[in-house]
This record gives sequence, structure tokens and C-alpha cells, in this order.
Amino acid sequence: MFSELGSADLVGMFTHELRLCKVQPGENVLIFTDPRFLHLAYPPAAFAAASSLGANAYILVSQGDQRLDDALVRATWQSADLILGMSMLPRGIGSWMYTDTHNAALKAGARVLMVQEPLEVLKRMLPNEQVRRRGLVGAQRLQEAKEIHVVSAAGSDYVLRKDGRKAMYQCGIADEPGRWDHWPSGLVTCAPLEDSAEGHYVIEPGDVLLGMWRHAQSRVVLTIEKGKIAKIEGGPDAYLLQSHLERAGDEGAFRFAHAGWGIDERADWGHVGMDSESKYGTILVAIGRNIFDAPAPYSGLGGKNVSEAHFDICCRNTSLYLDGELIVENEQFAVSELG
Ligand SMILES: [Fe+2]
Repeated sequence: MFSELGSADLVGMFTHELRLCKVQPGENVLIFTDPRFLHLAYPPAAFAAASSLGANAYILVSQGDQRLDDALVRATWQSADLILGMSMLPRGIGSWMYTDTHNAALKAGARVLMVQEPLEVLKRMLPNEQVRRRGLVGAQRLQEAKEIHVVSAAGSDYVLRKDGRKAMYQCGIADEPGRWDHWPSGLVTCAPLEDSAEGHYVIEPGDVLLGMWRHAQSRVVLTIEKGKIAKIEGGPDAYLLQSHLERAGDEGAFRFAHAGWGIDERADWGHVGMDSESKYGTILVAIGRNIFDAPAPYSGLGGKNVSEAHFDICCRNTSLYLDGELIVENEQFAVSELG
């Protein structure tokens, strides 16, 4: 009952957000959700906000186990001007954002916004111009780069190649045809070549194992050879990570998905979720599925990994180089215009 009381706040917040996403009278706004979605007040609040802006608002409730690969979902998504994704389906693969249906909707020109974080996080990290600017300049710099090198005092030292791959940013605003974003978020990322990673990736206690929705409790060392995680060693979290990736039953679960950095100083490291991915100057290097692409500039990954796993890992006190140039040094930007 009490979550419903937040809806008074929510309609105003969604109206603000939909204006940022340039919703126009007569546009079709599709709210996609499922019975297991935790934030019951979001779909009606978004529906009211879209209606108040003169848009045609629809709510599509999928059954809780579907993979978004049937004709009805596909056609509906491709007919929308703006899709608000309020669902974590399909489970395991990083949600609907890594489905062909999503890619097809973006290709057809839909704007797509993911909304699934708790109310206080939506409010705390409302989109702003500073995060958008950092995102755009960061993605421009990352897109030019061919090599990403990550190092840390904890022992991380690994290289990822990205020759020819695009880069993207998230700032919580989907305002161009074919652009995906997630409210709230602030980050810059790209899909490295899936056979390129080499070195050692060290996760420290207190870093975030987002695929398990919690902070790491023990040190984990990934040994990476020829693009693939060859060995996972360390404490209990090493065993749990190995089990999680093995459950996917495919080789891609041991290859990388995306790599980049956070750009929002309002993110709270104590709160696991988009706070973890967005925290200013932290490094996010994820494993698994990355077949997500979008035609708008600096949106989408263009990856080739079709794994059934997707596992985000967010690390503090880490540094990142692009083509040998120091970009992030222990959560501070060495290149001032990127911070
Ligand atoms: Fe991810």
C-alpha cells in the first residue's frame, strides 16, 4: 500500500522525464511490464504522465516467463514511438535490452527507456546536463580508441581491443529515434572484441558483483587468455561466479560484454544497482551477452556475444587507459574535459 503513496511524486517525475524524452502529442507511448515487476506504481504513473502530454499511452503486460520473441510483442514494440521498459524479462541474459525484439524496435526508430530502479534512486539521479555532457564527450573519446587497458593496485592488469567498435553513453534520456537509455544512469561503455581480452582482472571485497545483486565479500582473480576467462580463483565469490557463468551452458559466458566508466557523482556505492554502474570514476567491465545495437549516435554496443549470461562487475580504485593515454586514475579523470 505504501509504495502507492509515492505515486503523487511519480506522475510529476514521469512527466518531467517524458518531456526530456521529447514526447509529443499524438505519439504512441508503450509501457512494457510483467507481473513480477516490483514497482507497481510506475506503469500507472507513466500512463498518466504520457496521457497528460497528449500522447497515446498503452500498457502491455507480458506473462512472467516470456522471451519477447513472439510476433505480438515484436509488432507492438516496432509500432511505438517511445517504449518504457519496466520489466527484467527475460531473466539471466541482462533483460529485454539484449533481445532481437529490442534491437528491431530501435532499428524501426523507437526511443526506448528502461525504468526499474527504486523511487529514491529515480529521484536522486534525475537526468542532468552535466552527466549528459560527460557521457557524450566520454563516448566520443572511447569510440576513437582501439585499446582499453585496465590496472589497479589490487592487481588488475588486462587489455581489451575494440578496433572498429562503437561507443555509447547513458544519461537517462532517450530523446532521439533509435536511442536506448536507462533512467537513472550515467556511464560510458563499449563492447570490446570478444576474442581480444588478455591479463588478470581482480575483484576486491566491496566491489559490486551486479549479476548477483550484491557487493563482493571475497577477493576474486580472473585469468583471461585469448579473450576468454580461463580461470576463476579466490574466495567463496569465485566459486559462486564460476557456477553462475557455467549455468549459461555456453562459451560466451566466459567472454566480455562491455567495458567503460561511471560519470555520476550522485551515485551511492552502498546501493547496489544503477548506482554501482554509474558511480563517478569507477570501472565497469561486464561479462557475457552483448548483442544490443541502436542506430542513434553513441547508443548501442554492436557486440557479437550471444551468451545466455550477462554479468556486470563494478570496481573501485581502478585506472583505465585508452591507447596508452591515462583517462581515469583511481576514480578521478586524468583528462579534465571527461570529468
Ligand atoms: Fe551490463
